[in-house]
Amino acid sequence: MALKTSLLVNLLMFLVLTSVVSAIIKPRLSVIPRTRSKTSITTTTTSKKDDRKTFYYTQTLDHFNYRPDSFTTFQQKYIINSRYWGGANTSSPIFVYLGAEAPIEEDVDSILDDYAPIFNALLVYIEHRYYGESVPFGSWKEAYSNTTTLGYFNSAQALADYAELIVNLKHNLTAETSPVVVVGGSYGGMLASWFRLKYPHIAMGALASSAPILNIDDIIPEDYYPIIVSKDFEEVSKTCYDTIQQSWSIIDSHEKNGLPFLTQKFKTCNPLNSSSELKDFLEGKYCEAAQYDYDLPPLANPVNRICDAIDELPKGTDVLTRIAAGVVAYIGEQSCYDIDTYNNSTDQSSLGCKDTYGVSFTPRPHWTATEFGGHNIKLVLQKFGSNIIFSNGLKDPYSGGGILENLSDSLVALTTTNGSHCLDIQPAIWLVGQQASEVKIMKGWITDYNTMLRKENSGQGGVVASSHIWLTVIVMSLSFAKPMQVLQILLF
Ligand SMILES: *[C@@H]1O[C@H](CO)[C@@H](O)[C@H](O)[C@H]1NC(C)=O
Ligand SMILES: *[C@@H]1O[C@H](CO)[C@@H](O)[C@H](O)[C@H]1NC(C)=O
Ligand SMILES: *[C@@H]1O[C@H](CO)[C@@H](O)[C@H](O)[C@H]1NC(C)=O
Ligand SMILES: *[C@@H]1O[C@H](CO)[C@@H](O)[C@H](O)[C@H]1NC(C)=O
Ligand SMILES: *[C@@H]1O[C@H](CO)[C@@H](O)[C@H](O)[C@H]1NC(C)=O
Ligand SMILES: *[C@@H]1O[C@H](CO)[C@@H](O)[C@H](O)[C@H]1NC(C)=O
Ligand SMILES: *[C@@H]1O[C@H](CO)[C@@H](O)[C@H](O)[C@H]1NC(C)=O
Ligand SMILES: *[C@@H]1O[C@H](CO)[C@@H](O)[C@H](O)[C@H]1NC(C)=O
Repeated sequence: MALKTSLLVNLLMFLVLTSVVSAIIKPRLSVIPRTRSKTSITTTTTSKKDDRKTFYYTQTLDHFNYRPDSFTTFQQKYIINSRYWGGANTSSPIFVYLGAEAPIEEDVDSILDDYAPIFNALLVYIEHRYYGESVPFGSWKEAYSNTTTLGYFNSAQALADYAELIVNLKHNLTAETSPVVVVGGSYGGMLASWFRLKYPHIAMGALASSAPILNIDDIIPEDYYPIIVSKDFEEVSKTCYDTIQQSWSIIDSHEKNGLPFLTQKFKTCNPLNSSSELKDFLEGKYCEAAQYDYDLPPLANPVNRICDAIDELPKGTDVLTRIAAGVVAYIGEQSCYDIDTYNNSTDQSSLGCKDTYGVSFTPRPHWTATEFGGHNIKLVLQKFGSNIIFSNGLKDPYSGGGILENLSDSLVALTTTNGSHCLDIQPAIWLVGQQASEVKIMKGWITDYNTMLRKENSGQGGVVASSHIWLTVIVMSLSFAKPMQVLQILLF
């Protein structure tokens, strides 16, 4: 059935545990594959770069208590492109891209460059705490040095960072009433959907691309990911799928005496110490190929490439020769293959992952679902949430952890059969159909919002507003005043 489920599950069990934000999956939850440089697949013009200005916001370290050390701050990086903005006091929206487990530069080339002129939108990209330049405690080394400094590294704090910064920025721009739509992909897509649910007064909508928000707790079976990887390969070629399936036991059969043989066959840079090293490597590559199965150069349709190489060798060719040919087709000709890619990766995204710190560092495993929800999601959200697009490409193994059916009229699932991970928010219009739907839906939200805002401003909202102010006065007074004063305030 699945490629080789046990190890894969191990590899792919990821997640956003409250205290450590990032993923322990391989490949991780990123919008683009690490192995592919973004510049090679985009055509960012210099003018787009010139439109972007970088700023730093003095951000609060700990949003959730009033102990003196909570008021420690750090510099949070954010980038603005105001070229297309209609301005405050117009109906133009602000799109806020919520950074995820990577420096924010990796995300600025996105579909938002195409959406901005359509919406006359202001574009804001905010870096996630503990990544890029947005690290507390003065340096990256200090911030990651021990569990005390890492204790502020979690999704709830990150969402609060975004909330504080957006409110402050809107205030500075005198754009308090401008509609805000938050956007994110992968883990960032999870953040976008959670942000909309937690902070509806700050974002009136969210575009959550390839967001596996059900991959927490025990909401869905853990093996959904390898099952989809297997399906992707099987759909491309049944013989390829069968060959891969046969290969695992053949690789294992070399564990005792055949490791030098495997080392030579797969041209690994270091001698193999066990057959599982090779299997981990192959699994990682198959997963990556399925997750990022884009129809794009320089590595278009990697699943097809791997399978073509496996299938096209002459009849009678042995299984391992075929598998090795698949690796070469995917990675390219190399003098040797470094199969330890994931283990000593030094990029921040990998270093921020849970497995770097060992399994014991998994505080409160059920808290994510308690904090953000996920169980019985349709029942819970259909009468509560609104204005979220959950977009998924069904070839993306992570789509199995996403929302694939409409939860309500405005909690909408958009899927593309042949799409893969985060394809809809990549730059350039690749998923024309899905993107057109996204634009239409978001335009609807913004029009509705502006209509309601105008009604509110033209007086109909006056009563609500003033009673709201009174309620605030009373609540504040109740917290701070002595009983007698409260009575006076209430009577007054
Ligand atoms: C927007 O309107 C408010 C209230 O009418 C005004 O105070 C503010 O200056 C305006 N902002 C801009 C940027 O024009
Ligand atoms: C953790 O690291 C910080 C910053 O380097 C340091 O000030 C603190 O004493 C360390 N705490 C522990 C418990 O090691
Ligand atoms: C808003 O303006 C204040 C005062 O100039 C500045 O300190 C702060 O960084 C600005 N906030 C944002 C989000 O730009
Ligand atoms: C085998 O183990 C050695 C020592 O731990 C290590 O340096 C080497 O990278 C391992 N080989 C592979 C292929 O990972
Ligand atoms: C990577 O590291 C993990 C845990 O440290 C180990 O179990 C695994 O065998 C290593 N994989 C490779 C390919 O060296
Ligand atoms: C692993 O670490 C070694 C030594 O630091 C380095 O030469 C090699 O390029 C690294 N491999 C990867 C995939 O990062
Ligand atoms: C959800 O509803 C939208 C229309 O609002 C529709 O385009 C889309 O196909 C529906 N999604 C699914 C998965 O049925
Ligand atoms: C998906 O791709 C396959 C293979 O290229 C093609 O046969 C199929 O028609 C595509 N499906 C859709 C819905 O585009």
